[in-house]
Amino acid sequence: MPPRISLTQYLVEKQREKGLIPAELRLLLEVIARACKRIGYAVSRGAIDGVLGEAGSSNVQGEAQKKLDVIANEALLEANEWGGNLAAMASEEMDHPYTIPNRYPKGEFLLLFDPLDGSSNIDVNVSIGTIFSVLRLPEGVAEPQEAHFLQPGTKQLAAGYAVYGPSTLLVLTVGDGVACFTLDKEIGSWWLTVERMSVPEQTREFAINASNARHWHAPVKRYVDELLAGREGPRGVDFNMRWVASMVADVHRILTRGGVFMYPRDNREPDKPGKLRLLYEANPMSFLVEQAGGAATNGHQRIMEIVPAKLHERVAVFLGSKAEVERVTAYHRS
Ligand code: AHG
Ligand code: MN
Ligand code: MN
Repeated sequence: MPPRISLTQYLVEKQREKGLIPAELRLLLEVIARACKRIGYAVSRGAIDGVLGEAGSSNVQGEAQKKLDVIANEALLEANEWGGNLAAMASEEMDHPYTIPNRYPKGEFLLLFDPLDGSSNIDVNVSIGTIFSVLRLPEGVAEPQEAHFLQPGTKQLAAGYAVYGPSTLLVLTVGDGVACFTLDKEIGSWWLTVERMSVPEQTREFAINASNARHWHAPVKRYVDELLAGREGPRGVDFNMRWVASMVADVHRILTRGGVFMYPRDNREPDKPGKLRLLYEANPMSFLVEQAGGAATNGHQRIMEIVPAKLHERVAVFLGSKAEVERVTAYHRS
């Protein structure tokens, strides 16, 4: 059996042999991975440590926070504030960015995260995760502000997610393909277990919260109706539906065996452009999916080209196998 490759070795090779990432970015990614280890441990302790249930507070989007949302947010802040690689951090769970305190050296990167994705699945012991995205602080900026985070996804230097499921996984891109690491809990190492993830171009699987069907816009309705019609319909084949309701788990399935994931905007709140957040959910997932050969749009344009107007901006999401994303995007045009 060939020797195992650790996350550190993988990143050192990207840094040294390919010159793809600076040493500071490698160190930052290792610290994020360490924080995910800690979050995964807290998740696995569950009721034993009393971490399930509501925190009794709500975040800037008006969503009730779970205890683990708060624990995961704090784990990421604590792990990342002193390393000297970051200028500031932004999170789903914080109204405004967190600037690195003056007692620590400041670095050139900005980190964004959804500390705990799939909160509604915490208490039912279904896979949840952490999503993150790394940007560069624009040159010449001494004091990072919220506006400096408002960069299109194409500017991401790295992105990834951890899934706390049957195994704890870390899926990562630094713009040179997508790699998957599995946490060896006995010795605390992340081992490379899939060197290059790739999304098959065609698929027979789709993911959408169908309970919102009555609120969908016509292009989404048309697309899903055609999938549901199966062999007898215009597509001529049967499709299968899967919905975990944790984006990390749904996207991980797509990176593993293909499929299309949709969270469209709908008629419930016409002013709200979808449910998922652009900067720390849709952009990092789009970067990963594109790096694995898939596509990601909001129904009209490539998600990664959207210029954000707000830190907690929402966006419609269609991502996964290229042919399907192109089809549903084309239905929006016609
Ligand atoms: P979060 O827990 O970070 O707020 O994100 C939840 C998101 C995403 O993970 C998932 O795809 C979607 O919400 C689930 O939505 P439904 O409740 O409509 O199933
Ligand atoms: Mn989320
Ligand atoms: Mn979350």
